[in-house]
Amino acid sequence: MASPFLLFLLLIPLCLLVLFLALSFLARPKSVRIPIKNRHVLITGGSSGIGLALAKAAASQGAHVSILARNLTRLEEAREEIKLATGHMARVLVADVRDPQAVAQALEEAGPVDVLVCNQGVFVPMELEKQDLEEAKFMIDVNLMGTFHLIKAALPGMKSRAKETGLPASIAIMSSQAGQVGIYGYTAYSASKFALRGLAESLQQEVIAHNIHVSMIFPPDTATPGLAEEQKKRPELTTIIAGSSGEMKAEDVAKKALDGLKEGQFIIPCNFDGTMLAIATAGLSPQRSAVTALVEVLGAGFMRFVAIGFQWNWYSTIQNWHAKR
Ligand SMILES: *[C@@H]1O[C@H](CO)[C@@H](O)[C@H](O)[C@H]1NC(C)=O
Repeated sequence: MASPFLLFLLLIPLCLLVLFLALSFLARPKSVRIPIKNRHVLITGGSSGIGLALAKAAASQGAHVSILARNLTRLEEAREEIKLATGHMARVLVADVRDPQAVAQALEEAGPVDVLVCNQGVFVPMELEKQDLEEAKFMIDVNLMGTFHLIKAALPGMKSRAKETGLPASIAIMSSQAGQVGIYGYTAYSASKFALRGLAESLQQEVIAHNIHVSMIFPPDTATPGLAEEQKKRPELTTIIAGSSGEMKAEDVAKKALDGLKEGQFIIPCNFDGTMLAIATAGLSPQRSAVTALVEVLGAGFMRFVAIGFQWNWYSTIQNWHAKR
């Protein structure tokens, strides 16, 4: 007769299998593949940083790329760079995402979009008490309201195009790891990025029937002109706390983002820390992948423990920092 211990050992894989099968049945929305070859990909904040890297990556995979930004000179420089790298002539669109009329006009000029990447973002770290309200509003307006303006303007065209072609469409929204966890000095920035998650979770339910799939990208600090500027000004405690997450190259973030949106991943982490953060903050978000769902279910308790450990570390750091002053 088999020992109880052996039976127990056999039971573990069986339980995992049953759990996996249950999650395969439950995981929603259903998995999807979003082609980008020969499709119209519109990227905002497309003249530098992650946006430009995304434009190059999409163009090199055969997409028709439009880039939208405020500054025509920089857009034209970016178009030259994309052409040199890929041979593709991107369309450039000048608009300030804060202006809904300008956004609507740019999208009309661009024509129907298959993949909309809302990548524009501004970032001015400062303690709430010291931060100018105008700066806080600037972040909310560009990061959050800009995304509203873009989706509002693009959606009618995207819906009819998805229906016409029968191909799934994508709306990808650039968040940040600061959209998953609050950090000292990020009150306004985190608020704008957390807000995008509420927008995305609700929007996915609203557009799923039109074969439109929402993704959110959560990169860590990324080596861009924006970050270099930001690091000069940010509070010392922000640097100490946020400095622990590894910086990524724009090209690497772009690759993760593009791969993730093509698989219709709702949450796209960009590195190992990001994957851990995604598991820790899965909450009630949609999940297409039964494998990831299994990891989330099994990891939940442990990840909460790790999160408590992180908070301990941050609060100790803050306490020590104040004690020295
Ligand atoms: C546009 O970008 C160019 C090149 O970086 C810069 O010289 C110019 O000042 C910018 N224009 C505006 C209005 O910001």
